[in-house]
Amino acid sequence: MAPVKWGIISTADIGVAKVIPGMLQSDKLEITAISSRDLSKAEAAAKQLGIPKAYGSYEEMLADPEIEAVYNPLPNHLHVPLTEQAADAGKHVLCEKPISLDAPEAEKLIAARDRNKVLIQEAFMVRSHPQWLRARDLVREGRIGDLRAVQALFSYFNRDPNNVRNMADIGGGGLYDIGCYPITTSRFIFEEEPTRVVGLMERDPDFKTDRLLSGIMDFPKGQASFLVSTQMVNYQRVHICGTEGRIEIQIPFNAPPKEPCKIFIDDGSKHGDVSRETETFDVVDQYQVQGELFSEAVRGNRSQILSLENSIANMKVIDAMFRSAETGGWSDV
Ligand SMILES: NC(=O)c1ccc[n+]([C@@H]2O[C@H](COP(=O)([O-])OP(=O)(O)OC[C@H]3O[C@@H](n4cnc5c(N)ncnc54)[C@H](OP(=O)(O)O)[C@@H]3O)[C@@H](O)[C@H]2O)c1
Repeated sequence: MAPVKWGIISTADIGVAKVIPGMLQSDKLEITAISSRDLSKAEAAAKQLGIPKAYGSYEEMLADPEIEAVYNPLPNHLHVPLTEQAADAGKHVLCEKPISLDAPEAEKLIAARDRNKVLIQEAFMVRSHPQWLRARDLVREGRIGDLRAVQALFSYFNRDPNNVRNMADIGGGGLYDIGCYPITTSRFIFEEEPTRVVGLMERDPDFKTDRLLSGIMDFPKGQASFLVSTQMVNYQRVHICGTEGRIEIQIPFNAPPKEPCKIFIDDGSKHGDVSRETETFDVVDQYQVQGELFSEAVRGNRSQILSLENSIANMKVIDAMFRSAETGGWSDV
């Protein structure tokens, strides 16, 4: 297929450090341009990454007819506005998570997608990582018996007042930043939607962002729970438990691009991990995979791996979690 020509909106850390280097390894796409509110930042990033064009505004780049698709890693409050603008400029959009600040805001993207006949996808790279696809296949084939529970931990420590995660007015906080992952992956593994949720949330006294959150999701087939924190030891792990076994994903969310990932499968016959088997995956860069699959969808060679409707369903769970944290009780999704 002819490589899809991409433009990058902003010099966001995640783009420059991980997503662009991952995508540049692919022959299914080319990164044609990068933009920034500050031309010198765009030029520096273009030079560092070997990107041919640099633009001093997002709008200027969106007007470039050569660009077919854009990647939007702006702070969370700008996900919908810039994605809408890019779609109206005729570009396909891969937009960072969470797709919006709430489900009603994300609905605007359905209209933008349909009126412009473009693809819009939330950049949940975990959903195409081989370790998650394998975990779902194992559950589907009954390897752990009947699925009962998914449990996740995801945390890091960040109290930098200049970091977007610590700015409440632009969509900071742990639920948006990392709570969205256990929500999307639990829905992926259960292959259904939770009906109600409860969330216990503690906020940072200065930033007012949520920094510690325990969530429970009630699914028709079982339960999912998670603990996420922006001010706790750096750690991540997922357990998927059934009536006859369990699957443990060692590095579930920030899967390393240059090292093999591992999952453990245990029938529980012996304590202390004695009965567990290890499956090791070939090295993959999940951002390369994500960019390639979206590029193939742009060329019409496959359907996109995550629909906008699915992302809106994820936002409905996030919305319910915020409501529950306010009211202190269960909230229907
Ligand atoms: N999928 C993943 O693995 C992953 C990992 C980390 C983050 N993310 C997501 O990626 C997004 C960006 O995160 P990040 O940590 O890379 O953020 P970041 O480094 O702060 O980048 C955000 C960029 O947005 C631009 N911007 C425009 N208006 C802004 C404003 N009012 N305040 C701050 N920046 C503004 C800036 O670029 P210019 O100055 O060049 O215009 C800035 O560099 C978030 O939505 C986050 O959830 C995803």
